[in-house]
Amino acid sequence: MSAQEVITTAKAMVAQGKGILAMDESTGTCTKRFEALGIKSTDESRRQYRDLLLTAPGLSDFISGAILYDETIRQDVLDGTPFPRFMADNGILPGIKVDTGAKDLAGFPGEKITEGLDGLRERLAEYKKMGAKFTKWRAVITIGDGIPSMGCIQANAHALARYAALCQEAGLAPIVEPEVLIDGDHTIERCYEVANETLHTVFNELYRQRVLFEGMILKPSMVISGKKCSKRAGVQQVAEMTVDVLLNNVPANVAGVAFLSGGQSNEEATAHLNAMNQLGIDTPWPLTFSYARALQQPALELWKGDQKNVPAAQKALAFRAKLNSAASKGAYDEKQEKQAA
Ligand code: 13P
Repeated sequence: MSAQEVITTAKAMVAQGKGILAMDESTGTCTKRFEALGIKSTDESRRQYRDLLLTAPGLSDFISGAILYDETIRQDVLDGTPFPRFMADNGILPGIKVDTGAKDLAGFPGEKITEGLDGLRERLAEYKKMGAKFTKWRAVITIGDGIPSMGCIQANAHALARYAALCQEAGLAPIVEPEVLIDGDHTIERCYEVANETLHTVFNELYRQRVLFEGMILKPSMVISGKKCSKRAGVQQVAEMTVDVLLNNVPANVAGVAFLSGGQSNEEATAHLNAMNQLGIDTPWPLTFSYARALQQPALELWKGDQKNVPAAQKALAFRAKLNSAASKGAYDEKQEKQAA
């Protein structure tokens, strides 16, 4: 493994004022998002949409890297340049999702295990050749009646650590994503408890598998009330409890923390990140974003599958990227929402 290579990449991913664009929806998820808006999902429509995102003018001012899906990394921008090459030429690090999805965990009703370790070394070698610099693997932890179990947390943490070690061996910087789902009616305190146990277990496994903390990015969910909680916590409490759980579990030499948006509204995801960066706590790692929905949703809604809407959609994407960039520096203000694209 080239330690320096992964350290350099991980640092660049969380450079000041920059975050990561997650655009690695599997074909199934992308199709669901398209169909919800009446957009037909074909190889070509998915290519056009990803083309729109990556060629948005000014994107690299706010975005350090973008996470692709297996289909996308093999596709080209309109002039025939492969996506990863186009990105590298335009100051955006190419990343790739390498897990093969969350499946039911045998013996644990209602819980998931993320698969994809078999053959991963070979797949990583191929992605590296195609120009990938970093990777992503998402584990899913569900809060519910009597869950999550330690069996589920442990199995997912172990897989995340095995994945991260293989990526670093290949010279790719891993994004380690243990997502505690927002679904359910749980309180923010319950979310804290689960996030605390999950992060503790994940970092123990990462340590056991000899993962280099300086060469990885943590992509956590925020500590937040369940979507259906009757009394949802406010922005300040989310910020305080999220930073607290990270300080409690994340080694100081981890290169950076880049949150997922996890079903929060666009504005909420930006406000929460901003509030964390306004707490006046000098965290040992940059706190930034790696959003999919909270960056893309306005663009997707404007595009509607019609190429004549591309400029408006690109403006909307760059606008959300700009606001989240400000939030990563604690410099966002709700009033900026009004200057919408
Ligand atoms: P969301 O920001 O839509 O939660 O997606 C982030 C992500 O990459 C999920 O794996």
